[in-house]
Amino acid sequence: MDDKRAQWGSKFGFILAAAGSAVGLGNIWKFPGKAFEGGGGAFLLMYLLIVPLIGMPAMLSELSIGRASQSNVVDAFGKLGHKGYGWTGWMGWAVAFIITCYYSHVGGWVLRYVFSYAIESQKVYADPLGYFYGMLGYDPAAEATFMPWLVLLFALIFMAICAFVIIKGVEDGIERFNKVGMPALFLILIVLFVRAATLPGAMEGLRYMLSLDMAKVTPQTFLIALSQAFYSLSLGMSIMVTYGSYLPKSEDIAKNTFLVCTMDTLVAVIAGFIVVPAVFATLGPDGVGKGGGFAFVSLAGVFEHMPGGAFFGFLFYLLLLFAALTSSVSLIEGIVAFLIERKGWKRTPTTLVTCGVMFLIGCLYTCSQAAFPLKGIWFDFANGVTFPPLCDAMEFLTDRIMIPLGALGCCVFVGWSWKPESAIAEVERCGVRFRLAKAFGFLIKFVAPAAVILILCVSLFTGTTLS
Ligand code: PHE
Repeated sequence: MDDKRAQWGSKFGFILAAAGSAVGLGNIWKFPGKAFEGGGGAFLLMYLLIVPLIGMPAMLSELSIGRASQSNVVDAFGKLGHKGYGWTGWMGWAVAFIITCYYSHVGGWVLRYVFSYAIESQKVYADPLGYFYGMLGYDPAAEATFMPWLVLLFALIFMAICAFVIIKGVEDGIERFNKVGMPALFLILIVLFVRAATLPGAMEGLRYMLSLDMAKVTPQTFLIALSQAFYSLSLGMSIMVTYGSYLPKSEDIAKNTFLVCTMDTLVAVIAGFIVVPAVFATLGPDGVGKGGGFAFVSLAGVFEHMPGGAFFGFLFYLLLLFAALTSSVSLIEGIVAFLIERKGWKRTPTTLVTCGVMFLIGCLYTCSQAAFPLKGIWFDFANGVTFPPLCDAMEFLTDRIMIPLGALGCCVFVGWSWKPESAIAEVERCGVRFRLAKAFGFLIKFVAPAAVILILCVSLFTGTTLS
């Protein structure tokens, strides 16, 4: 085993990498639709309360576990003297594995759309839904299904890019990649924001995003915002523990947590302010929130009616591509770091084999979207045993059960076993006093676990989708 652990080459490198992990499809694809459905301003307000009160303490906990243990996520809890929490580490590892299987495939779809807007935007506009299904192996006109080879190839390319970055290692690969990718992402985001805000009719959408419809401030909206925050901040998985373990002792974890959470939230909110007004301006209020295919289907209408639409469409998917790549890289690093440390395997073959396996499992995900009727199995107390499409079952498993459980494990670990004092000591190691220590202790002991338990209960007992 390496006795010298990899470290970030610079402070900025870590922040960009952690923000790169957090800023992903969740921010740009999922957030705007949810913000729309949750009443615009009402959702925004709740989200902006949840991030500092629950998201930040949870992220600070994960980073301090990582740095204190100097270990991969599975061994981290044992190294800190609490072997009983090993399951939390395993859960984090497993959930990262399952998510990567499908996240990388959605990344492949995004890559496909980058090309679609570059070379055949007219085809996308002519029949957005048909085009989307066509990509996934279903021809609505002929009512026939086929093997979606092309999009699988795009997913393979996406995975290969990630593998390449991971093989390069922490400093040369992940850090460098994010140093280019993240500024590019911010730049594109700003261009798109200016474009969307200046579209005729966009004001109505902007107003909607800023209006506070109290009828929409419901427990349901709150829970949707809460689970979105966990997903968006990359919590409940191996990521922040692993990335924290590469952080030098001289770094201020509290400040880093604040910066990463702020950047992530900023991107989500700006994405909301791009997509919702643009959809309002071009499709009207009914055009927003059309479920899973939203980023691929509804947005086609937006770009079609926008001057220079194909170009801005291309930019949008490029943005999504950067976001998805940096997030996938973080997921895979968590998976690979464990295998390298625990098994003593080499980085290159480990990365190639795990990425290969995840790609293959992901093929089932893509194929079960429309091409083949592959089913998964699911259970909740409201509906009993059901057999949803395999792709849905995979997402249910991670979003409804595994992420909340992983997050719960970390919060309870820091709140009640390792104790907030240990996390605070880890924060203060850099020589700066942690001024919010008291508030942190309270939030991580009571507020964060209660919130996560609530998510778990609602999805298990009511069968409601919160993702
Ligand atoms: N946070 C990422 C997003 O918003 C998703 C992700 C989750 C990435 C967990 C890594 C780990 O899309």
